[in-house]
Amino acid sequence: MLDQAENQVIVNDVGPRDGLQNQPKILSPAQRVQLVKALQAAGMSHVEVGAFVSPKAVPAMAGTDEVLAGLAGGADVDDVLTVLIPNVRGYELATAAGAKSVCMVLYGSDGMAQANVRMNREQAEAAATQILQQARVDGVRVTSTIAVAFECPFDGPVAPARVADIVARFLDLGADELCIADTMGAANPRQVSALMTALIDCHGADRISCHFHDTRAMGLANVFAALETGVRKFDASIGGLGGCPFAPGASGNVATEDVVMMLQQMGYETGIDLAGLMRASQLAQQLTGTAPGGRASAWLDRYLGKMK
Ligand code: COA
Ligand code: ZN
Repeated sequence: MLDQAENQVIVNDVGPRDGLQNQPKILSPAQRVQLVKALQAAGMSHVEVGAFVSPKAVPAMAGTDEVLAGLAGGADVDDVLTVLIPNVRGYELATAAGAKSVCMVLYGSDGMAQANVRMNREQAEAAATQILQQARVDGVRVTSTIAVAFECPFDGPVAPARVADIVARFLDLGADELCIADTMGAANPRQVSALMTALIDCHGADRISCHFHDTRAMGLANVFAALETGVRKFDASIGGLGGCPFAPGASGNVATEDVVMMLQQMGYETGIDLAGLMRASQLAQQLTGTAPGGRASAWLDRYLGKMK
């Protein structure tokens, strides 16, 4: 039996950022607020609600300040609403808009850093270090996400030792969380298990999370592999929305409803209501016209229908 702490899993919905950034249809800030509120209504306390990036680079994330304003006051004190930032300018804009939690991206490869933010890995790390120092002064929570932690579309496989080195340095610098991201959806469960076991042996699981894309249909298997090593926090995206516009070939994240369903069936506590999630997933599909929905949607609709 797992004890109570080991039994709790946090799921952070990144659909309003990772999902919407890659949609052909651009949602208004009010529609983005509506989606976040639907996730909160399903009991999701952790949501990545937008990004402070160049509106020329990612037009769908313009107006994230309005999204934060639309959500202000509606969240519980324990809620963690995060915004992604690519650079120091992003940090300044995010905090000016009232963000209390930011996600700064680090890279497993130079190729991805160049494609995403026109920096090399070291420049991105230098910016992240500067942001962390300022965030400690400002009392802002920082997640450092390592993009392409397994494989890069430009530079190929990423050595686990490189990821381990970044994790160690940024935990030392005081990052609240290190998120290991398979941006491409290229990892397999055995690789995930090996990397996450090594990281958790060194650092424990408290400040480590995972972010999987489902490009090769291994997203859920990778969640399971990481769960078995002790990881207790995962990113996922409502309706499986997602993909990075700067990572060719990447598809959506593993769907939040599939992850939550698997966790619940295995006896984990998430605090999330599946029926509420299905409503949020339907809303995501209505708003974008393209969200694929989770792989278990048909079954979940039938099962939840019977429970009414
Ligand atoms: N938010 C908004 N605007 C920003 C910004 C930020 N975080 N950082 C820079 N800018 C603006 C600059 O002020 C400048 O504006 P101007 O053209 O009106 O003068 C313009 O963007 C270009 O700035 P520059 O420093 O020359 O950057 P760039 O053109 O090399 O672009 C980034 C670099 C980081 C701004 C851009 O590539 C970006 O936003 N990337 C994010 C990619 C992303 O979100 N990927 C998916 C998530 S991982
Ligand atoms: Zn992603």
